[in-house]
Amino acid sequence: MKLTMEHYFIIAVFFVSFPVGLAAQQPHIVFILADDFGWYDVGYHSSEISTPNLDKMSAAGVRLENYYVQPLCTPSRNLLMTGRYQIHTGMQHQIIWPCQPYCVPLDEKLLPQLMKEAGYATHMVGKWHLGMYKKDCLPTRRGFDSYFGYLTGSEDYFTHVRCTPIPALNLTRCALDLRDGEEVATGYKGVYSTELLSQRATSIIKQHNSNKPLFLYVALQAVHSPLQVPERYVAPYSFIKDPHRRLYAGMVSAMDEAVGNITLALQQGGLWDNTILVFSTDNGGQTLSGGSNWPLRGRKWSLWEGGIRGVGFIASPLLKQPGTVSHELIHISDWLPTLVGLAGGSTNGTKPLDGFNVWNTISKGFASPRLELLHNIDPLYNDIAPCPGTERQLTLARAVSGGSWANSGFNVSIHAAIRSSNWKLLTGYPGCDVWFPRPGHNNSEWRSSPEDPLKSVMLFDIEKDPEERNEVSDTFPTVVEYLLSRLHQYQTSALPINFPDNDPKCDPGTTGAWGPWA
Ligand SMILES: *[C@@H]1O[C@H](CO)[C@@H](O)[C@H](O)[C@H]1NC(C)=O
Ligand SMILES: *[C@@H]1O[C@H](CO)[C@@H](O)[C@H](O)[C@H]1NC(C)=O
Ligand SMILES: *[C@@H]1O[C@H](CO)[C@@H](O)[C@H](O)[C@H]1NC(C)=O
Ligand SMILES: *[C@@H]1O[C@H](CO)[C@@H](O)[C@H](O)[C@H]1NC(C)=O
Repeated sequence: MKLTMEHYFIIAVFFVSFPVGLAAQQPHIVFILADDFGWYDVGYHSSEISTPNLDKMSAAGVRLENYYVQPLCTPSRNLLMTGRYQIHTGMQHQIIWPCQPYCVPLDEKLLPQLMKEAGYATHMVGKWHLGMYKKDCLPTRRGFDSYFGYLTGSEDYFTHVRCTPIPALNLTRCALDLRDGEEVATGYKGVYSTELLSQRATSIIKQHNSNKPLFLYVALQAVHSPLQVPERYVAPYSFIKDPHRRLYAGMVSAMDEAVGNITLALQQGGLWDNTILVFSTDNGGQTLSGGSNWPLRGRKWSLWEGGIRGVGFIASPLLKQPGTVSHELIHISDWLPTLVGLAGGSTNGTKPLDGFNVWNTISKGFASPRLELLHNIDPLYNDIAPCPGTERQLTLARAVSGGSWANSGFNVSIHAAIRSSNWKLLTGYPGCDVWFPRPGHNNSEWRSSPEDPLKSVMLFDIEKDPEERNEVSDTFPTVVEYLLSRLHQYQTSALPINFPDNDPKCDPGTTGAWGPWA
């Protein structure tokens, strides 16, 4: 056959579109995780806080409006990295405190390891919080080629110092928590964390050779407490009366700018056309530190929607239906199979996954493969922050002993929640159950407590009643029975809780930094 000019043209187009085989088709993946960013704190949820970058990027992408995370920092990060529920790693209870000698089990294969096997350059910037008592637990030993960030949480945004009591030594230790790779990173005192981390992220992007696929995980400090922010970000918010909320709003603005800067770097570096950017919060907002989840009930640390329904979206030129809003059920554990799938990688080597590949759901609007979601089961649950009306816990405790579901097989005084299609069942004390008022609005909107006391078994139709105002367990007893049997099944597959005592050997002394001690 004689090749005409037209043939050459078609062949040329083919090679331009797919330059060097599979590797060039693998998308760059950038995952930005915000800390304690509440449901009502993003501009597109009608917040008084403006987030022009998040609004614009998500409007051109896919907003996830039925998207769930875990109620706390360590658990959400754990699920993101393992694709497995908290009960399956023995980490169903709380967070990792700085002196606790444990980390995400070392026999779990993490997301960055899988991306690396798929041929990606893997970089992490920001908060780890998945354990660091020994070197094998560090991000650089768990799949990341490079790491710049902090290993614990709650440190100062400018000094990068974290203070924590070490009761066994009868002292409160304040020490630096910032590392470049495995080395302590000094010399950043005074640089605001949100700017520091986004600068590092943009410099990784600038230095990246675009022939190799990039996996970049940016776990921002923003907008977790302490409430600290350079004045220029707060200036536009003088109309906000509540000083916590005002500072928080400034922190959100800085974060929005950071996301804008990272996106711009991807565009300027020529990566953007082949990038999938995920933005997600790690848990609901903390109302004690300026956050808001209005109109949802509860907050961070609770299994009410305010603790676990997350702000999240995908921005990417690769989406098949850009500019849409997804109401399909998606969970933070779904990212591992989804992103590894996009990378053309394999989940071979992971333990049985609880997550689903939801890319067709996000990109094409298909129904979610996820029909059920275990929010958590934590027999040791305790709420450590003061909640208005805590006497209600006592009401609950009394209700438990005489509960009518005592013979269900599942111990209904255990803190647990499960979702199945439109239904959500909660047992035990779910955590702070208040409907906090909408910031800047009259408390008349604030119906802080329901007429009924909390019960040890509560059922809500979340699709119709996302605010969890109408408890319907009496009306749908067969749904309750079914979901209790599911909880029972999950509980039989749970590992024992690993939550070791503090090890005073964690003490970095007066001149050291938080880091591996074992
Ligand atoms: C702990 O430290 C405080 C203040 O430094 C001191 O007053 C107290 O006696 C110490 N307690 C013990 C048990 O050493
Ligand atoms: C974003 O980039 C601009 C321009 O380089 C810089 O001035 C600003 O500090 C950056 N913001 C953040 C949050 O990193
Ligand atoms: C999965 O991994 C095992 C052990 O690393 C290997 O023997 C096996 O061939 C792999 N399977 C696939 C499908 O890659
Ligand atoms: C049920 O769970 C509660 C809370 O975890 C626990 O205190 C209690 O001992 C459990 N009851 C039984 C019978 O196991």
